[in-house]
Amino acid sequence: ASPAVRGDRFSGGPAREFMSSIDADRRIFEADLAVDRAHVVMLAEREILDDGDAGQILAALDAIEESGYDALPDGEDVHEAIETAVIDRIGPAGGRMHTARSRNDEVATCLRLALRDGLLDLQRALVEARRQLIALAEAHRETLIPGYTHRQPAQPTTVAHWALSYESALARDTGRIRDAYERTNRSPLGAAAFAGTPFDIDRERTATLLGFEGVVENATDAVAARDAFLEATAAATGVAITLSGLAADTIEFASDGLIALDDDYASTSSIMPQKKNPDSMELVRARAGDATGGFAGLATTLAGLPRGYNRDLQRADRHAWQAIDAVTDALPVAIGAVATADWPADVDAGTGFGTATGVADRLAMAGVPFRTAHEIVAQVAGDGTPSVEALLDAIDDALDERPPDLDRETLDALLDPAESVASRDSRGGPAPTAVAASIDRAVDRLDRD
Ligand code: ARG
Repeated sequence: ASPAVRGDRFSGGPAREFMSSIDADRRIFEADLAVDRAHVVMLAEREILDDGDAGQILAALDAIEESGYDALPDGEDVHEAIETAVIDRIGPAGGRMHTARSRNDEVATCLRLALRDGLLDLQRALVEARRQLIALAEAHRETLIPGYTHRQPAQPTTVAHWALSYESALARDTGRIRDAYERTNRSPLGAAAFAGTPFDIDRERTATLLGFEGVVENATDAVAARDAFLEATAAATGVAITLSGLAADTIEFASDGLIALDDDYASTSSIMPQKKNPDSMELVRARAGDATGGFAGLATTLAGLPRGYNRDLQRADRHAWQAIDAVTDALPVAIGAVATADWPADVDAGTGFGTATGVADRLAMAGVPFRTAHEIVAQVAGDGTPSVEALLDAIDDALDERPPDLDRETLDALLDPAESVASRDSRGGPAPTAVAASIDRAVDRLDRD
């Protein structure tokens, strides 16, 4: 039989294992069965295969699926192994399954099916993560924390505002995954090796059977293109980078006492009995390494490939899975850690004179040029602990006349972190009223996703 001839010709050499993709192909076992079925149905409909052979092949595919991946006969890859298994079951007629196709269009189709699944899983994880961040924001609209720039205390903010900043980023990440999905969801099947086939096939039909939104038109492009993988991997890497920032924040928060992780997301030390470490978040942060490594590996593997199919492509998709799996697994952990954490109510959100900008803003509102206001407050900041007294002195030193409404009571309120946050109610700001509006927009956006 012809596969045996092929087997004799190509089996056994010292490079056999090196050239095989049978381990990596476990991921596309189901996809390959789906592709085989769609192809056989189409061939029968076009009377390229007779119904008897088609029925036998389909039954064999069912039995092969039932037996599972590990029961496949030896083969260089999953495509060859399944074809051999079909022939083992029904005889030479099984060899008709490969009419009017090549492993090149076959594997490209399987990979797109698997990528579709991967992107849907990631999309689901993103939507769930955003839902939890919005719930966290709802619960903590008034929970104060210091906000940072350059990792220095900058201005008081809230847990809600911080959480929404990541929800916003993950919403854009979701959009990028969706875009990648759209370009992924085209069928290469029927391109054959790279140059079409004389058989009267129906590419649209197999595309429809497999749930694709149309075909990849050009047959050479269809077998060679992996840019949907590159795009998907870039989008997944974007998610990983978003999560790495969230992890870095949380690790710093834990060290500053702004957050107390639930024991489920913390780790202890084998020697230091007092330790409670944010290991889960450090591992989330490290997934950015997996993802960017995957992206770099994929881009490097694809760069410079000439047109047509090249076997290099057999090592391309693994880089994409590395990135996509890394972030899909990290998402529920990252968000679970912040969603289940305790946010102590007694933190000093105004630490490091974080209310300074609010005082300067208030002077400017009273008519003092902002630069002058900045200098007045900077002097107080430089002198040490801010106080109403120190502010009054600095204002009186600098100005001929103190703005009449800048009394002690007003200054006292300006130094209060909660008042500071409540005053910053511009769109997208941290004031609980502004955050409530942002939450509404975030919920709308999430509903649409
Ligand atoms: N396992 C191969 C892959 O993943 C299938 C294609 C083999 N095609 C070939 N012309 N050798 O790309």
